[in-house]
Amino acid sequence: MEVINCNNISVTFKNHFKRFKALDGVSFKVNTGDIFGFLGPNGAGKTTTMNCLLGMLKPNSGAVEVFGKELSVGSPVFKEIAYLPEVPIYPEYLTVFEAIKYFAKLYNTSISDVLIEEYLKTFQLTKYKNFSLKNCSKGMKQKVGVIQSIISKPRLLFLDEPTRGLDPITVKVMRDAILKLNSAGTTIFLNSHVIAEVEMICNRIAVIDEGKIVSEEETINFRKGDHTGYSVKFEANEKIPDYISVMSTTSTIVDGEIPEEKLDKFMKYISKSKAKLHSCSLKKSTLEDALFDLLEKEEEHA
Ligand SMILES: Nc1ncnc2c1ncn2[C@@H]1O[C@H](COP(=O)(O)OP(=O)(O)OP(=O)(O)O)[C@@H](O)[C@H]1O
Ligand SMILES: [Mg+2]
Repeated sequence: MEVINCNNISVTFKNHFKRFKALDGVSFKVNTGDIFGFLGPNGAGKTTTMNCLLGMLKPNSGAVEVFGKELSVGSPVFKEIAYLPEVPIYPEYLTVFEAIKYFAKLYNTSISDVLIEEYLKTFQLTKYKNFSLKNCSKGMKQKVGVIQSIISKPRLLFLDEPTRGLDPITVKVMRDAILKLNSAGTTIFLNSHVIAEVEMICNRIAVIDEGKIVSEEETINFRKGDHTGYSVKFEANEKIPDYISVMSTTSTIVDGEIPEEKLDKFMKYISKSKAKLHSCSLKKSTLEDALFDLLEKEEEHA
């Protein structure tokens, strides 16, 4: 079932008589159960798109439907949606515990103090629960935002750069929490420029650049074209043959790549020159490679 239908939206900002087209015909669909990654460089249009999806910004053209309806302030469907903004801002006089309780209860009144305590423990905030937010670090406030958005177990969750300012342990805790939520039925829309984060958890990815979608694929398809050669590491005793593309060298180790058809020749070279081979493995293109290729192509066409 379709949860989000974003149909050809464009947004132009007007500031001081200048016009700037932040979104230019953005379309995509998110289905039930997806963890949909919305990936793009800074200023690409991720937050602007999310604001349109949430009905906080009206596109100049095009339309957005969430659960089959156009959202506007006060829509009943907001009861089933949670949102972590790019920069969560809460009243600074609230304590960590109070902020979670207050904002979580806006969604769902059945959230108990015991459940809040559980989440505080999971996110290692227990000892700070009575700290007022004004005395919390950036990461601690971000954790409050993350807990507030996931504790109500929404049907649809919007996360705008959720790992911003989080330490690696918390990033893992959050990833696990998102996956758990998703397996219990929550559809997730995730804005991010952290490629590894998106690759690890999203089943579908759309890439946005300069306000346009440049690709939308199942995550697995982004890595098509695997096995296009071998990555090799060795200690050379003789001149390095031309078919080896040297990526880097230290005083002893050559780190390079060879085409698939040169494997036999390479092995003979290693054996004949008595070079010490450290590793030889199939080269796998990563989402990072695919993304750089995509964005480079866009640059060439611009
Ligand atoms: N209110 C506004 N007025 C004018 N321009 C804006 C406004 N909001 C966003 N923009 C511009 O629209 C473009 C897209 O911004 P947006 O915040 O959507 O990017 P983003 O992909 O979320 O970037 P980041 O990764 O840095 O969060 C940027 O060039 C930004 O400067
Ligand atoms: Mg943003």
